[in-house]
Amino acid sequence: MSDGPLILGIETSCDETGVGIVRGTTLLANAIASSMDEQARYGGVVPEIAARAHLEAMQPTLDAALAEAGVALGDVDAIAVTSGPGLAGALMVGVGAAKALAIALGKPLYAVNHLVGHVGVDLLRPAEEGGGELELPTVALLVSGGHTSLLLVRDLLDDVELLGETVDDAAGEAFDKVARLLGLPYPGGPQIDRAAASGDPTAIAFPRGLTAAKDQAAHRFDFSFSGLKTAVARHVEQCRARGEEVPVADVAASFREAVVDVLTAKAIAACRELGVPRLMLGGGVVANARLREVAAERAAAAGIALRIPPFALCTDNGAMIAAVGAQLVAAGRAPSSWDVGADSTLPATVVQA
Ligand code: KG4
Ligand code: ZN
Repeated sequence: MSDGPLILGIETSCDETGVGIVRGTTLLANAIASSMDEQARYGGVVPEIAARAHLEAMQPTLDAALAEAGVALGDVDAIAVTSGPGLAGALMVGVGAAKALAIALGKPLYAVNHLVGHVGVDLLRPAEEGGGELELPTVALLVSGGHTSLLLVRDLLDDVELLGETVDDAAGEAFDKVARLLGLPYPGGPQIDRAAASGDPTAIAFPRGLTAAKDQAAHRFDFSFSGLKTAVARHVEQCRARGEEVPVADVAASFREAVVDVLTAKAIAACRELGVPRLMLGGGVVANARLREVAAERAAAAGIALRIPPFALCTDNGAMIAAVGAQLVAAGRAPSSWDVGADSTLPATVVQA
């Protein structure tokens, strides 16, 4: 086992209650409870339901993580917690739990940026795969139901830059909304993926948001999916108005292709223009096989090394927050103030709140 501080990380920014435990850069536990089933009846994440579910899941998830790691709460050197960005009410549950634990145990508290956690998680890959070190600088494309961000990370603790983000829907949210338009259940990503398998990705020329020449000055690395969603809605309505059956497979495949095309084109362009030879992916949308495939093709063609953490570490989890906490502790950073609170719009550049 590697040495380093024993850190417990808590993540509650969206609908996953995550408690992870790491020692330095060694992953000891990654316990997760999700309220996705409860959200399914509403077709998306309802913040109040997420917050309540975190409250109920916190203690069992904490117990599961401690059992998995085989450590006692009293052995932990510090508590790390996501303080933002994310859903305010959901974040508050995690921050409250982390403060209570830290105070009760007499341990320091580290409030960590969720987006930076998605990058820091790559430290936890096994030693035989080069674990323990981040290859930097890297561009990171983080795509989930809650965020779509392109980061440039030169230093995990001191130099994280936001290159761009979505100006409207998150990529995963677009999958969820389009699935709903097609009459498919929540979460939409896997459903669209399944339907797209038998469809023609070139059947319908859906728009690629913020890729026009006029958008390049202000939105070079930003994303927009609301126009795409509207185009899908219009296509579906027109089919129905003509009394035709909606070609679900072709719509799904063409929609997925549009999302994947824009995400990968902008990520690779960022690497090229900034002279960064690496790209890493994170977030639940990484489950999309077509996204991984096109990212791999385009990265290889551009001579860019692509890193995709194991899927359980791509979706929201507490281990990634513990991993960043361990780096902060190892670097001798002062703990966060007891006054630190949930910050739903914490900027990507603020690694520790
Ligand atoms: O990271 P994540 O588990 O947490 C939230 O942001 O809640 O991401 C969930 C999102 C959902 O929007 C879901 O539709 C999307 O990831 N997703 C996918 C796929 N699997 C999950 N999107 C596209 N293709 C998939 N296969
Ligand atoms: Zn996330």
